[in-house]
Amino acid sequence: AQHAERQRILDTLRLSREQLLEVKKRMSEEMVRGLSKQTHEQASVKMLPTYVRSTPDGTEHGDFLALDLGGSSFRVLLVQVRSGKRHNVDMHHKIYSIPQETMQGTGEELFNHIVYCITDFLEYMGMRGASLPLGFTFSFPCHQSRLDQGILLKWTKGFKASGCEGQDVVMLLKEAVQRKKAFDLNYVAVVNDTVGTMMTCGYEDPKCEVGLIVGTGTNICYMEEMHNIETVEGDDGRMCINIEWGAFGENGELDDFRTQFDCIVDDCSNYPGKQRYEKMISGMYLGEIVRNVLLDFTAKGLLFRGKVSERLKTRGIFETKFLSQIERDRLAMRQVRSILQHLGLTGSTCDDSVLVKEVCSIVARRAAQLCGAGLAAVVDKIRENRNLNELYITVGVDGTLYKTHPHFSSIMQETLQDLAPQCHVTFHKSEDGSGKGAALITAVACRIKSGGQ
Ligand code: BG6
Ligand code: GLC
Repeated sequence: AQHAERQRILDTLRLSREQLLEVKKRMSEEMVRGLSKQTHEQASVKMLPTYVRSTPDGTEHGDFLALDLGGSSFRVLLVQVRSGKRHNVDMHHKIYSIPQETMQGTGEELFNHIVYCITDFLEYMGMRGASLPLGFTFSFPCHQSRLDQGILLKWTKGFKASGCEGQDVVMLLKEAVQRKKAFDLNYVAVVNDTVGTMMTCGYEDPKCEVGLIVGTGTNICYMEEMHNIETVEGDDGRMCINIEWGAFGENGELDDFRTQFDCIVDDCSNYPGKQRYEKMISGMYLGEIVRNVLLDFTAKGLLFRGKVSERLKTRGIFETKFLSQIERDRLAMRQVRSILQHLGLTGSTCDDSVLVKEVCSIVARRAAQLCGAGLAAVVDKIRENRNLNELYITVGVDGTLYKTHPHFSSIMQETLQDLAPQCHVTFHKSEDGSGKGAALITAVACRIKSGGQ
C-alpha cells in the first residue's frame, strides 16, 4: 500500500507524450502572440527584440570590457578580439561575489558594487583609468529599443534590488560611475546571457542561431525574421529575439501540469506567480521541488520513518548540485546516504536512499522534457519561417545544470527529437561564457557607430 501511495504521488510528476506535445503547442502559440503588435502585451513570453541582427562573421576586432551579471557568478572580463583569423580571442577574467544583501538591497548599492569591481579589475590588469567599450551581459528581461539601452522589466531569480525596475541599466551604471569618479565609461551594449552564449558559440559555428541557458534560471534566444517582428520597424533580414521563456505559464498555460509541489515552491519564492516554466526547470528551483516531495513523503510516513527533521523543513538545503551528484550512475547507494547525512537527514535506510534517488530522477527528467518541448517549439518555428522541410541548426548552450547533470541533456535531446523530428539539432556547449559573445556584439556596434562597415 505504501508503495502504491508513493507511486501515485510520483505519477503527478510524470508527463506523457501528449502533455509534452501540448506544452510545445502552447509555447508556439505564446511565441506568436509575443511577436504580434496587438497581443504582445498580454503574452506570457515577451519575445524581446535584442537589436542583434547577425551572428559573428570573424571580422570583429578590438579590446573590450565585459560584465557577466545574473548567473551563479559575477564576472568582469577583458576580451581581446583580433580580426582576420577566427578563434583568435584572448580573455582574462576575475570572479567577484555579490553578497545577498547587495542583490536585495538598493539599486544604488548594487551598481556601486559593480563599479567597485570594474575598478578593481582594471587595477588588477594594470589598466587603471582605461576607457574601453563594454559588453554588459545582464541576464534579466530588458526592453530594448537600441543596443546601448536596456530597461529592466522585472528582476528574476535571486535579485531584488530596489529602484531598478523600469530603469535603463546603462544609465544606472553610468550614474554609479559618476558617483565614484573611478574611470570613464565608453559605449555600453546590453546583452542577455542567451544572446551572449549564441554569439560565443556562433563565432566557431556559423549555424549557431539559438542560445539556450539552463542554469540558475532558464531562457532561450533565436534568430527571427524581421517581417515577423511587428514590434520593430523594418522587414528585411533577421533579428535575435530573447524569448524570456522562463515566464511561460504566467497566463495559466502550465496549470494542468503543475503539481502541489510546484505550487508550494512558487508560493515561497521571491516572485510568486512569476517565471512558472523556469520554476519547473532551472537550477534555482529543482532542489526545492525535491525537498518538498521528500517533506510530503515523510509527513505521510512514507520516508525517513516518518520523522520530519528541522533540516528537511529548511528552505534551500537541498541544493540542485545534489541532484546532479545523486544521479551519477557510478554513485553507490551508500554515497547517496552520505549526501543525505550531509543534509542532516540522518537515520535513513537503504530504501530511503533508493526513494530519494528516484524522486531526484523524476524531477530532473520532467525538467529536461519540459525544456525539450519548449525547444521543439522554437526550432520548428525557425524551420517553418524558412519554409524548410528539414532544418539543420546548432544551439549554443550554457548553465551549470545543463553542464553538470548526468542525464539532463540526453533526456532533453530525446524529447526534442521526438517532438520536432524534422529538425536536426547540434548542441554546442559554451566553454567560454557569454562575455566573449557580448564583446563581439559590442565590436560590431562600435564599428557601425564610427561609420565603418
Ligand atoms: C555562464 C554565462 O557561463 O552561464 C552566464 O557566462 C550565464 O552569462 C550562466 O548566466 C548561466 O549559468 P548559471 O548556472 O551560472 O546560472
Ligand atoms: C532568467 C532571466 C533571463 C535569463 C535566464 C537565464 O530567466 O529572466 O533573462 O536569460 O534567467 O540566466
